[in-house]
Parts: sequence; C-alpha cells; structure tokens
Amino acid sequence: MLLLLLLLSLFPTVPKSLMIPSSLDSEICPIGHFPCGNLSVCLPQVLHCNGIQDCANGADEDNCVDINGWPKLLDVFLSSRGSRPKLEEEAGDCTLDVVPEKCQCSGKMINCSNQDLHMVPSASSNATTLNLQNNKIKSLSDHQFIRYQGLKNLLLQRNRIHAISSQAFSGLFTLKKLFLSHNRITALKPGVFKDLHKLEWLMLDNNKIAKITAGSFTGLQSLYFLYMLNNSISELPKNSICVEMPGLNWLDLEGNRIKTVRRSVFQQCITVLILHGNKIRKIQQGALSMLTKLVDLDISANQLQRLHPLLFSQLQELQMLNISFNPLKQIYENQFDSLTHLHSLSLEGLEIPNIQNRMFAKVVNLSHIYFKKFQYCSYAPHIRSCKPNTDGISSFENLLANIVLRVSVWVMACVTCFGNLFVICMRSFIVTENCCHVLSIKSLCCADCLMGFYLFLIGAYDLKYHGEYNKYAQAWMESSQCKMVGFLAMLSSEVSVMLLTYMTLEKFFCIVFPFSHHRVGKKQMLSTLTAIWILGFLISIIPFFSQEAFGNFYGRNGVCFPLQSEVTEKQAAREYSTSIFLGLNLLAFIIVVVSYTSMFYSIHKTGAKTVERSVLSREVAIAKRFFFIVFTDALCWIPIFLLKTISLMQMEVSGTVTSWVVIFILPINSALNPILYTLTTPSFLERLKQGLKRKQRQLESKMSFTLVSIHTNTTE
Ligand SMILES: *[C@@H]1O[C@H](CO)[C@@H](O)[C@H](O)[C@H]1NC(C)=O
Ligand SMILES: *[C@@H]1O[C@H](CO)[C@@H](O)[C@H](O)[C@H]1NC(C)=O
Ligand SMILES: *[C@@H]1O[C@H](CO)[C@@H](O)[C@H](O)[C@H]1NC(C)=O
Ligand SMILES: *[C@@H]1O[C@H](CO)[C@@H](O)[C@H](O)[C@H]1NC(C)=O
Ligand SMILES: *[C@@H]1O[C@H](CO)[C@@H](O)[C@H](O)[C@H]1NC(C)=O
Ligand SMILES: *[C@@H]1O[C@H](CO)[C@@H](O)[C@H](O)[C@H]1NC(C)=O
Repeated sequence: MLLLLLLLSLFPTVPKSLMIPSSLDSEICPIGHFPCGNLSVCLPQVLHCNGIQDCANGADEDNCVDINGWPKLLDVFLSSRGSRPKLEEEAGDCTLDVVPEKCQCSGKMINCSNQDLHMVPSASSNATTLNLQNNKIKSLSDHQFIRYQGLKNLLLQRNRIHAISSQAFSGLFTLKKLFLSHNRITALKPGVFKDLHKLEWLMLDNNKIAKITAGSFTGLQSLYFLYMLNNSISELPKNSICVEMPGLNWLDLEGNRIKTVRRSVFQQCITVLILHGNKIRKIQQGALSMLTKLVDLDISANQLQRLHPLLFSQLQELQMLNISFNPLKQIYENQFDSLTHLHSLSLEGLEIPNIQNRMFAKVVNLSHIYFKKFQYCSYAPHIRSCKPNTDGISSFENLLANIVLRVSVWVMACVTCFGNLFVICMRSFIVTENCCHVLSIKSLCCADCLMGFYLFLIGAYDLKYHGEYNKYAQAWMESSQCKMVGFLAMLSSEVSVMLLTYMTLEKFFCIVFPFSHHRVGKKQMLSTLTAIWILGFLISIIPFFSQEAFGNFYGRNGVCFPLQSEVTEKQAAREYSTSIFLGLNLLAFIIVVVSYTSMFYSIHKTGAKTVERSVLSREVAIAKRFFFIVFTDALCWIPIFLLKTISLMQMEVSGTVTSWVVIFILPINSALNPILYTLTTPSFLERLKQGLKRKQRQLESKMSFTLVSIHTNTTE
C-alpha cells in the first residue's frame, strides 16, 4: 500500500510553489539559461564555466573568474598611477655615491635585505628605494630618514621594530610606499606620519597594534591603501578615518578583534572595506549608510547573528558583498534590494531557511553567487554563475550526480528485488521439513526486498527530475515522499540486521549446544519475527514523531538516508542515528562475528574426533560459507561504521562517498543474502538437482514419445 502510494506520487506535476515567476524573465533567455554572448542561443545555467565550450563562440567559458570588486579596482589603480617603478631608478648601474657596506645598489635603489642589521645604515641621500627588510632593527629614532629627500619606497618589513618615535618619518615628503609589516609595533603615536603627504601605500599588517588612536594618521592626504590585517585592533576611532585620510580607498582590517561597528566609524572615502575574520557581533543600524562609494564589502567569518534589513540600503555602488560564514539566523527577503550594481554575492556557509526568489529578484546585475548548498541555486535562476553546483550526491541536473551511480542504482535494485522475490517464491513452492527456518528466511527476503524497492524509487525519482534536479531539490528533500523512501530504507536495513543476528544466534545454539534438545517452536518463532518487524518499524518511525527534536531526519540529502552528520543536524537526530548505526548495528555485527567463530570452532572440534574424509570436506565447505557470510556482513557494515564515526568527528565526509555507500554498500547484504542463505545452500542445490533431473526425465520421455509418433506417422 505504502509502496503504491509512493509510486503514484512519482507522477503528479511539479509543486506550484517552486515555479519561477515569469516576471523575472530577462529579455532574451528563459529563466535558468544564459545567452551565448552575442549569439541568439541560450544555454542552461549549469553549462556556464563547466570547462567545455558549449557555445559556438565560447562565450560560456568567458567571465568564469569572479574579478569584481577589489581585483578590478586594484587593476584600475595600478594602471592609472603607473605604479611600476621607473627602470632607471631601480635597475642598471648604481648612480649613488654612498652605499653602506654589505648592501647592494642598482640605479637609485639600495638593497640591504637579509643582512642582520641592527641599525638603519646611512646611504646616499639621493636614493629612491631603501630596502631594509628581514633585518634585526629594533627601533626607529627621531629624524631617522630626514636626509632622504627623494625617497619613494621604504621597506622595513620583517624586522623587530616595536618603537617608532613620533618624528621617525619626518621629512619624507615624497614617500609613496611604506612597508612596516611583520614587526612588533604595538601603538602608533599621534602625528607619526604627518609629513608623508604623498604616501599611497601603508602596510602595517602582522603587528600588535591594539588601538587606532585619533591623530595617528594625520597628514596622510594621498593614502590609498591602508593594510592593517592580523593586528589586535579592538577599537576604532570615531569620526577620524576619512578626516585624516581623505584619499583612503582601501581599508583592510581583516583578522583583528573588532567587536562592534558603530555608526559613523566608516565614512564616504572608503571603496573597499575588508573586515573578514574579526569578532563583530553587531553592526549598528546606519553604520554603513555613509559608505556611498563602497564597491567591495567583506564582513565574512564574523559573529554576526543578525543584519538589519536596511543595513545595505545606501550602498548603491556596491559590486561585491561577502557575508559568508556568519552565524546568521535570518536573511530578510528585502535585504539585498538596493544593491542594484552588485555583481558578486557570497553567502557561503549560511543556512537560509526562508530562501526565496524574491530575495535576489531585484539584484539584476548579479552575475556570481556563492551558496552553502547547491539547491539554493534554484532560487537565483537569473544569475549566470552559481556555486556550488553539487553536494557530491546530487548535482544541478540529477538526483544522482554520477552516471555510474545512475545506472547502478537500477542494476542493484533489480538484483536485490528479483533475487529476494525469487527466493520467496522458491521457498513457498518447495516444501521442506523445517518450516520455521523457511519462515525466517522469507522474512529476511521481505526485508531485503524493501531495500530493492528503495533503490527503485531513488532511481525513479532520479529519472523524474532528470536534467533539472536543482529546481526541485529543496522541495524533494522536504517532501513526504523523501521521508517515506528514507523510512523504507531504514526499515529494511534495520530489520535485515536484526533478522540476521537472530538467525545466527539460533544456529549458534543449535550447533554449540546440540544436546539441549531445545527446538524453537513455530509459535515462538512467529512472535519473535513479529517483534523484530515491530521494532524495526518503531526505529524507523520514531524520527517522525518530533519535528522539533529530529528536524528533517531523512531528508538531509538527495538519497534520503541519514548517514552523514553535519553541523546543522539536531542534537537528538545525531544521537539517534549514532545509536542505531554505531550502537545497534555494531552490536549485531559483533554478535554475528563471535557466533560464527565459535560455531566454526565447535564444528572443528567435533570433526577432529571423527577422522573421516567426508567430514573433513564438509567442514571445509561449512567454513567457506561461514567466511562468506561474515565477510559480506563486514563488507556492508564496516564502511558504514567508519563513515558514521568520521562524520561524528566533525570531519567533512564528501557526499560522493555517501552516495556510493548508499547505492553500493548498503544493499550489498540485501542483494547477497538470497544467494548466501538459499541459492548456494547444499540442501537447495540438492533439491535443484533433483528437480532438474525430474524435468529432464519428463523431457526425455516427451521427446521419445514425439519421436515415436513421428516415426509411426511417417511409416504409415
Ligand atoms: C560578437 O560578434 C562579433 C562579430 O559580429 C564578433 O567579432 C565577436 O567576437 C562577438 N562577440 C562575442 C562575445 O561572441
Ligand atoms: C636584495 O638582495 C637580496 C640578497 O641580498 C636578494 O635576494 C634580493 O632579490 C634583492 N632584492 C632586489 C629587489 O634586488
Ligand atoms: C644627487 O643628485 C643630484 C642630481 O640629480 C646631484 O647634483 C647631486 O650631486 C647628488 N647628490 C649626491 C649626494 O649624490
Ligand atoms: C595572519 O596570521 C595568521 C596566523 O597568525 C597567518 O596564518 C596568516 O598567514 C596571516 N595572514 C597574512 C595575510 O599574513
Ligand atoms: C568570502 O569569504 C569567504 C570566507 O572568508 C571566502 O572563503 C570566500 O572566498 C569569499 N568569497 C569571495 C567571492 O571572495
Ligand atoms: C547592469 O549592467 C549593465 C551592463 O553591464 C548596465 O548597462 C546597467 O546599467 C547595469 N544596471 C544597473 C542597475 O547597474
């Protein structure tokens, strides 16, 4: 009945709620398709940047790299400023009269890197570049560089500088680049850079600066790049950044300890703001409202739980936004509405339970979007490049990503289903003396058959969604069909596991204690089997009882089987699936292994007493069978135990592995059980032989009869 319902449910039409509103249609191509450059050909989104030229003009492999935002800006800046050093300044023969010993000179550049210097050496005042990186300089004293009136680049990175006196850089009116990275600077004195009117690059990364005090950056009128990542900044000055540095475009504060972003800290001057990897919990409403020129905003990897719906409302120039990896509880449907110039949006690592087409509908120029799950891509059908496009199990196009899996699911389904059905029929026709044994074998076959049905259903849904799975992925995983399919697989595998254990135990008592004369009666057997089925049923149905505790227990991936653990999984669900896969199943496996080992041992011992050849060969045969039974069990269960353990340790298990386990390994037992427990047993083979002989005899007599009749006919 259940199966019938499931099969019927395969065919109704696509859920209405997932239909893409036609208002989103771009002029040329239908939703989910993109145009081939200036040809009038449209291709599905998935073919964009897949490494294969699908458009005749190759336009589908253009613009694959997301170079919006700062990379573009940097290019523009470098080309406009002609930032390459002039050749005569840094190459060719030395044109300077005083060069410190140990240092090299070319053109007007002095290179003193890696020389173990403890002090700043003195050189010709006409030098334009002074390279002092990788030395042991500890401090910079007042007027240290005042002689170098024409200095353009001062490289002091990777020294041990911790103190910079307030006049250290005085007189460097022409300096363009100042590198102070990888030092031990803890504070910047007010006015320390006040003469550096031409400075464009200031690198202060990987120091120990804890605080930006007002006045530290006065005088830096032309500063374009301020690079302060990997410091310990927890406090930002109020109202001073753009006042002190009106030309500031690029502010990188990545990897600091900023906790809150207050209103009016960041002002209009900034076009690139990188706050990645801080500890930001709160961005005050309106904190970004003055950043009207902002092109690139990266607030990824912070502690943000909530973004005000109007937070981005003033950022009309924004091209690149990265809010990935924040513990965001919600994204408002109108959150991105004002970002009409946005080209690239990163939402990696974010669960978006309320995702809908509406969210991205107004971001018309978006060309690159990054999600946590590929299923979300179906809600952004007008975006040319959407990543990721697979979770390992399923892909954009298909429920089963891999063609081998797509074919194998049918093969495995057929083998499992027909093998078990065949055994059920055989056992029903051939009457044996031990009806109880037959009952449990039939029971086992029924359970295994369900696994075949499960695979059939997965294969059928894969066909149903063929080519456009991403549109239905989310709905499929949340659907009751997926839950039913998962229920089926769980029921089958658990009942099968328990039946195998039960049968093993029964055999064990029979062989190890042969004289107890305790035979299981039919009634007892029936009640045990019923109990096992009821228990299996309960195990599989429990997750349905509490949506709150278990979440969507079965529908966490396309194949609806709860093997993977992930971070978002509910606590109860994780514990439950662990106690089943690593508790119940592991226990069953141990029982099977121990029982078969001791059974074999016991047979071996009794066999040793009777020194007969036939006994010996029989013993070998038994050993072989036992080995295969335990071996296939191990083949099936050990990978599952491993998979479960690994995913419990919070290690990333790729979906590919899961899908192969579910399609190939999980059904191994179900497919092989009929062969192991029926088709290759000596008694069955014996009976088969007898049957065949009888058939043969019948056939022979028939043949001879016809021959005789033909003969008589012709002679008449
Ligand atoms: C557009 O068409 C022109 C010729 O009509 C061709 O030269 C050009 O390469 C095409 N551009 C693209 C992106 O296909
Ligand atoms: C500076 O000198 C070091 C070795 O002393 C050398 O490795 C480095 O390439 C030089 N740098 C430049 C820019 O010439
Ligand atoms: C610096 O260069 C100028 C011309 O560019 C030259 O007249 C002067 O002598 C040089 N000074 C030193 C100390 O090399
Ligand atoms: C920042 O610091 C971390 C460790 O402290 C280091 O791994 C990383 O490379 C640094 N980043 C940069 C850009 O220097
Ligand atoms: C967004 O930020 C995350 C985390 O910092 C990073 O991995 C990702 O590459 C960024 N996305 C883009 C498009 O730069
Ligand atoms: C979107 O991009 C197109 C072409 O790049 C441009 O002409 C148009 O003005 C952009 N629209 C908005 C709202 O930025």
